[in-house]
Amino acid sequence: MTDATIQLMVNGTPVSQTAEPRTHLADFLREEMLLTGTHLGCEQGVCGACTVFVDGKPTRSCITLAAACTGAEIRSVEGFDEDPLMRALRTAFKKHHGLQCGFCTPGMLVTGYDIVRRLPNADAARIRKELSGNLCRCTGYAGIIAAITDVLENAPPEASVQPHARAQQPESSAATSLLDSQDTPSPQTAKGDASTTIPDRHSLEGSPTLSRTLTFDTPAADIWNILSDPKKIVSCIPGARLDSATQDGKLQGQCAVSMGPIKAAFVGTAKMDLKDAEKSGHVIGRGRDSLSRSQLDGMLDFHVTRSETGDTVLSLDMTYKLTGTLSQFSRPTLVAEIADRILVQVASAIEARAQGKEPDATAQTSLNGLSLLASVFKGWFRRVLWFR
Ligand code: FES
Ligand code: FES
Repeated sequence: MTDATIQLMVNGTPVSQTAEPRTHLADFLREEMLLTGTHLGCEQGVCGACTVFVDGKPTRSCITLAAACTGAEIRSVEGFDEDPLMRALRTAFKKHHGLQCGFCTPGMLVTGYDIVRRLPNADAARIRKELSGNLCRCTGYAGIIAAITDVLENAPPEASVQPHARAQQPESSAATSLLDSQDTPSPQTAKGDASTTIPDRHSLEGSPTLSRTLTFDTPAADIWNILSDPKKIVSCIPGARLDSATQDGKLQGQCAVSMGPIKAAFVGTAKMDLKDAEKSGHVIGRGRDSLSRSQLDGMLDFHVTRSETGDTVLSLDMTYKLTGTLSQFSRPTLVAEIADRILVQVASAIEARAQGKEPDATAQTSLNGLSLLASVFKGWFRRVLWFR
């Protein structure tokens, strides 16, 4: 791969450096600039340890390509030595025991700095919300929140880093700083509105797949009754809404996803073909989230059978392709873990509906929240090496 020349400002110093186009900003800072204060935890854009300012906007450097930052001004945690607001935050973190191992601290400080300069009246609840994109495995967050509150309540010094005009963001979206300030190409095709186009199945060839089986106590006919009715099955998927369904199986709807810092609302179209005699079906569709400029193409084959022990078995084969900003989250292991947790909720809702009951509302809503993300990462943290 030919190296790209990357020209940007890092902590006030002009930098011109060659690097592979796939180098993310965190690696660029750490390995090319030797600025190792920017930490890498998940490298999936979720833990926030790698947060730095790009044009004054908090940005996850692990999912931001260095080449996409050409011309930008980067401020990493090392670039605040003379900054009075950051000095106040550092002192407050120390005073309130806002750090233990310190791994999350560079990202916490950058996010804390952004909270103080942007939300002068933030209370503890608001600070918690704003910090939802930064994970700490040590402190229990109380000290971090106390530190930021302390700075807010004691006439904080003026921030020297402010968002540039091109990086201005709405008041409530500090933690959503992914690639949206970069030049991510819109996945919308030149041929028309992507959300009303059904993809060709060949375009999904070679894409990641997931195969799962779900087992139910309920008779196969009752499960099929739910699966074969778009209205009923969509009502079993948290965050999903069916807007229209035609006789020939064309469906239009949307699905909202909200997990900590990740928020998206995919609007799209799908085609569903059913074989009642075999209790099998095929769905293919496309959804688009205009906010993150991301597109999801997906295909699902499902089949209901009866096991030797008399249980009802639902086999699922899913193929998906995510493009645009959110594709940074489509690493197969992460998708598989999230999908498995979603499927537990969906299966429970299907079974409830098949038995004529209402699905558990608590379980359905908790999917769209931090609990899902937290549970994924709880398992994940057990397996990955947290320190590098
Ligand atoms: S390392 Fe970048 S968000 Fe976790
Ligand atoms: S102090 Fe936050 S991860 Fe250790």
